Amino acid sequence: MSSFKISSFEEYQQVYKKSVDDPEGFWADIAGTFRWQQKWDKVLDWNFTEPNVKWFTGGKLNITENCLDRHLEKNGNTVAYIWEPNNPNDQTIKYTYRELYEKVCRFANVLKKHGARKGDRVCIYMPMIPELAIAVLACARIGAIHSVVFGGFSAHSIADRIQDAQASLVITADGGVRGNKEIPLKSVMDDALELCPTVKKVIVYTKIKTPAYMQRGRDYWWDEELATVGADCPAEPMDSEDTLFVLYTSGSTGKPKGVLHTCGGYMVFAQYTFENVFQYSQPEIFFCTADIGWITGHSYIVYGPLLTGATSVMFEGIPTWPDPGRFWDIVQKHRVTTLYTAPTAIRSLMASGLKHVEKKDLSSLTKLGSVGEPINEEAWHWFHDHIGKGNCPIVDTWWQTETGGIMISPIAGITPTKPGYATLPLPGIQPCLIDEKGQEIEGNGVSGNLCIKFPWPGMIRTTYGDHERCRKTYFSTYKNMYFTGDGCLRDDDGYYRITGRVDDVINVSGHRIGTAEVENAINMHTGVVESAVVGYPHDIKGQGIYAYVITEKTPSDANLMKQDILMTVSRIIGPIAKPDKIQFVSGLPKTRSGKIMRRILRKVAEGDLANVGDTSTLLDPAIVDEIKAGVIA
Ligand code: WT7
Repeated sequence: MSSFKISSFEEYQQVYKKSVDDPEGFWADIAGTFRWQQKWDKVLDWNFTEPNVKWFTGGKLNITENCLDRHLEKNGNTVAYIWEPNNPNDQTIKYTYRELYEKVCRFANVLKKHGARKGDRVCIYMPMIPELAIAVLACARIGAIHSVVFGGFSAHSIADRIQDAQASLVITADGGVRGNKEIPLKSVMDDALELCPTVKKVIVYTKIKTPAYMQRGRDYWWDEELATVGADCPAEPMDSEDTLFVLYTSGSTGKPKGVLHTCGGYMVFAQYTFENVFQYSQPEIFFCTADIGWITGHSYIVYGPLLTGATSVMFEGIPTWPDPGRFWDIVQKHRVTTLYTAPTAIRSLMASGLKHVEKKDLSSLTKLGSVGEPINEEAWHWFHDHIGKGNCPIVDTWWQTETGGIMISPIAGITPTKPGYATLPLPGIQPCLIDEKGQEIEGNGVSGNLCIKFPWPGMIRTTYGDHERCRKTYFSTYKNMYFTGDGCLRDDDGYYRITGRVDDVINVSGHRIGTAEVENAINMHTGVVESAVVGYPHDIKGQGIYAYVITEKTPSDANLMKQDILMTVSRIIGPIAKPDKIQFVSGLPKTRSGKIMRRILRKVAEGDLANVGDTSTLLDPAIVDEIKAGVIA
């Protein structure tokens, strides 16, 4: 389809150079391969001070025409999704591009019937079923802004997100299944909706056929509504810079922020990065194991693959059910060629032993991908040797919710790889490393804070409803730079290795969690006075959550109190944010100005008791000995 697929390392180097010398020409050529209702007048307008970044202004398009309509004539019968159900004995479902197109158009008409219009916010809270992708695309079809909330979040978290976005419509399901657990999505949503007066309509897909509370005049069944609308739905004309979606993610403060992406730039970037990094061509079968509730699913289950006309596997379940061989069964069953997953999944499957891998036919695999957190060398080699059988390149893809798509990564089979390294920036991406003084560090064999010094089409435009927060978080630390929040080293070959977050964000099983968010949740528990949360190295999860908690009085049953705290965090945020370790303390190491010295808490949590460093500036240095004595190994 597009002719911008790089085919050799020399070509990568040339293209990269061109993309830096003439970024506008570079991206305009790529953008020219899409279907525009009207061509853009200006490729790029930008400054990183406000910030204000605009790509392809004056252009009009609808991303779903590029995901669906334009494939129909020649590739309407190509399979877009192979849906693999949670239960391996249930039926696989395949949708061709034509079928997907028809389903999206009809459901888009349901949304319209219920009052959704261009610019309205729609919250989607669904399990990993094809209807989730259909709901996302139906929103895009009519220009409504989707805000997908991961199915593992609590009612409280959903309510926060709906309120922040002022969503007027919700799309959900009666429930979902993951492994042997049923998740009562509608009932969780009902709890959230108690706090969300902006929501006027709720469309409910019947998935697990369980009784559900359906409120008259507010709640409607998906299937029944489909029967009441027509099949045709013209694509809403969108300006390049109209909002496509908002996706909430954690930062250093307690409140998740709505990362906002726009139509034109995101489209170009998601497609270009997908096709190039994975070197995708038909009839390859691409399998990204993420959930659509995260950016990885947005860009590499929904938009990137569909824009490219790819065939993808979408999986409802979890890697460990019915047994830890499930991914390999899926690879074998659907002849997957490219498997894109997270280090935490690799480590957990590695821990369950080779017996789940050995008898599986993985010969269809030609490329492997990793995303979400640094991949340790042991996991990299295991993935390479036992899954890729030594002959599949691994693309270690570094990016973020805010970047919209992959930024630093090998191009599969083209960029020479090195375990633990995301290697080199993709064309159009200009990374740099910054020292403590805010100066760019030139040359190789150096490390610093990772920034990006030039805009790219898929970048965040604002944080929903709070532009100042966007400026402060990403554009104020260093002048004229987008600051990623990650530390990074560039080795002697100029290869990048991401070393982890340098802010108060921790990465648990590839999920971003703000320590302040967890602290707020713990502090909601009656009897808790104060808490401090830090990350520590965890064999499977990458990082675990370690909480230091001050209680009003010594708990009579410390174990029960810990269980209560875990329950509280689950209710406030969701199970993914539950601390792995809780230590009750009588005080926290604070400076005279009242600031918690997290460095000390991190050292203790890591078990590195000998190196807590200088404690002389603390208000009460003795507290450190107490904390060290009570450390939970
Ligand atoms: C943070 C972004 C990007 C989609 C999934 C996560 C970490 C991501 C890598 C990688 C080392 C990585 C960074 C980043 N991260 N990919 N290949 N190597 N670290 O998206 O939830 O927005 O989290 O994940 O720390 O800042 P996210």
